[in-house]
Amino acid sequence: MDARTAKLWAAQDRHVGDRQRLFETVSRSIDANKVLYPGCYVDISPSMIFDDVTYVDNDKQFPKFFDDEDGVREIIDAQRDTKTRYKFRSIHTDYTSGLEIRDRSVDLLVSLYAGFVSEHCTRHLKVGGSLLVNASHGDASMASIDARYELTGVLTSRDNNYIFATTNLASYFMPKKDEDVTIERLHELGRGIPYKKSAFAYLFTRTS
Ligand SMILES: C[S@@+](CC[C@H](N)C(=O)[O-])C[C@H]1O[C@@H](n2cnc3c(N)ncnc32)[C@H](O)[C@@H]1O
Repeated sequence: MDARTAKLWAAQDRHVGDRQRLFETVSRSIDANKVLYPGCYVDISPSMIFDDVTYVDNDKQFPKFFDDEDGVREIIDAQRDTKTRYKFRSIHTDYTSGLEIRDRSVDLLVSLYAGFVSEHCTRHLKVGGSLLVNASHGDASMASIDARYELTGVLTSRDNNYIFATTNLASYFMPKKDEDVTIERLHELGRGIPYKKSAFAYLFTRTS
């Protein structure tokens, strides 16, 4: 493995195994094979769990990291429990510019700390597929007002682990202040709005 690959992964995996635990919990909660992760940087933890992952980012370190395919596989192989074959690909581009990925072809779309992924990439998600999204950068708020989505679960973190829950979902996404949540407002803010109750991340199902 290249020294650069090792260094980039060590910086990404600062809370060792944290992301892997998140994706493990997600994989136990939904049925997914094909995953799309726009704005992933070098977070390859989905490949430790899922068999077919497409990574997208426009950072200049991204192609350098993925060019060391053997090194990337070494990191993944060290953590993968199953011995099933897996594949991944990397696309170095701006996810807002239109991805060369078939519409409605992925089972899980991931949006973590990377802007309004759901706005630009939902077209690639199957109806019935899932969006994993966190509150940072406002994309969870965006999904909550998107008519194509229904909130189907929340992920909370406790004792270094993630818990998936499907109860009291109606109590989430209630703004603390009496304000209208609109696409324009979220663009203006560039982050989520404060809610009375929140979770670490949310799972939405694409319903239309
Ligand atoms: C804060 S990092 C988060 C990385 C990873 N999702 C994580 O949670 O560790 C945000 C990443 O999103 C990428 N990003 C932001 N906007 C993007 C865009 N429009 N197209 C592609 N990548 C983007 C940045 O290059 C950066 O690598």
